[in-house]
Amino acid sequence: MKKIIVTKKLPFDIEDSFKNYDLIYNKSSEPLSEDELQRELYDADAVISMLSDKINAKMLENAGNLKVVANYAVGFNNIDIDYCSEKNIVVCNTPHVLTEATAELGFALLISAARRIVEADKFVRQGKFKGWEPTLFLGHGLQNKTLGIYGFGKIGQTLGNFARNFKMNVIYNSRSRKRHEEKLIDAQYVTFEHLLDKSDFLVVTAPLNTSTKHRFTKNEFEKMRSSSVFINLGRGEIVRESDLAEALENGEITYAGLDVYEFEPSVNKKLLNMDNVILLPHIGSATVTARKEMAKLCIKSVKKVLEKNNVPWNAVNKNFIVDK
Ligand code: GLV
Ligand code: GLV
Repeated sequence: MKKIIVTKKLPFDIEDSFKNYDLIYNKSSEPLSEDELQRELYDADAVISMLSDKINAKMLENAGNLKVVANYAVGFNNIDIDYCSEKNIVVCNTPHVLTEATAELGFALLISAARRIVEADKFVRQGKFKGWEPTLFLGHGLQNKTLGIYGFGKIGQTLGNFARNFKMNVIYNSRSRKRHEEKLIDAQYVTFEHLLDKSDFLVVTAPLNTSTKHRFTKNEFEKMRSSSVFINLGRGEIVRESDLAEALENGEITYAGLDVYEFEPSVNKKLLNMDNVILLPHIGSATVTARKEMAKLCIKSVKKVLEKNNVPWNAVNKNFIVDK
């Protein structure tokens, strides 16, 4: 019997899908410790991993049977891709199925920051609402403002499309210019410097890699508009979080909305005490539909490798990528 490990409880009947497998399913709210996971990987054929699992060379050093890692996320910076490629282990992620959900959450952060939704809610709960006032919680509208997108993948493009429907101007910067995609939503490719300079709202949707790590530090926040709003939907390590806290404190930028953190799950203490930042617990893809489709895609990917000896379309390591 083939052995598969699923490192966290998923919102989908995964047991039914792996009836003919030796399934190690961690249904507890506690993650498997690194030691436990490493021990279980010793004779496993497949693992469905979470973005919080570090799948590195050390973790895999004794995993001689492993053929596929299906990461329950679009991002896969938690996996040592080069090592997996070397060992002929297929790595898959869950693109597309979470695009709308994540872009929607990004837009929710954007509007919540612009209109100070979270602060205003707190105000009412604290019994401070004493009647309508012309100056109560003045925020900013979106129309004619410029949305800057850093990372123009599917999520960034979808967010840009939402923004166009709110009559925003959309500019973007990403590793490569995407001429076809930019035309579809009338977005404009700009340099990184221009993105910092011109964005009223700057949203990060880029993946974490060596070229995006700490892309936003003190130096970048200083170049942004003092009225600007910074939103991070990608990965926490793209931003030096202590510099972001300082930039908010010093008025280098005005507001922030975060779904991810540099030292996740811990959050910079200063940010926790600020009213001009919205903090979410990494819930970008957390809709019932997206999380169910992510599970289905992971199951399919694992079966494609183990039962059909085939490479799934969503493989991400170079030696396995098939033409899409
Ligand atoms: C979530 O952050 C993901 O990468 O799916
Ligand atoms: C996000 O940037 C994606 O590639 O979907």
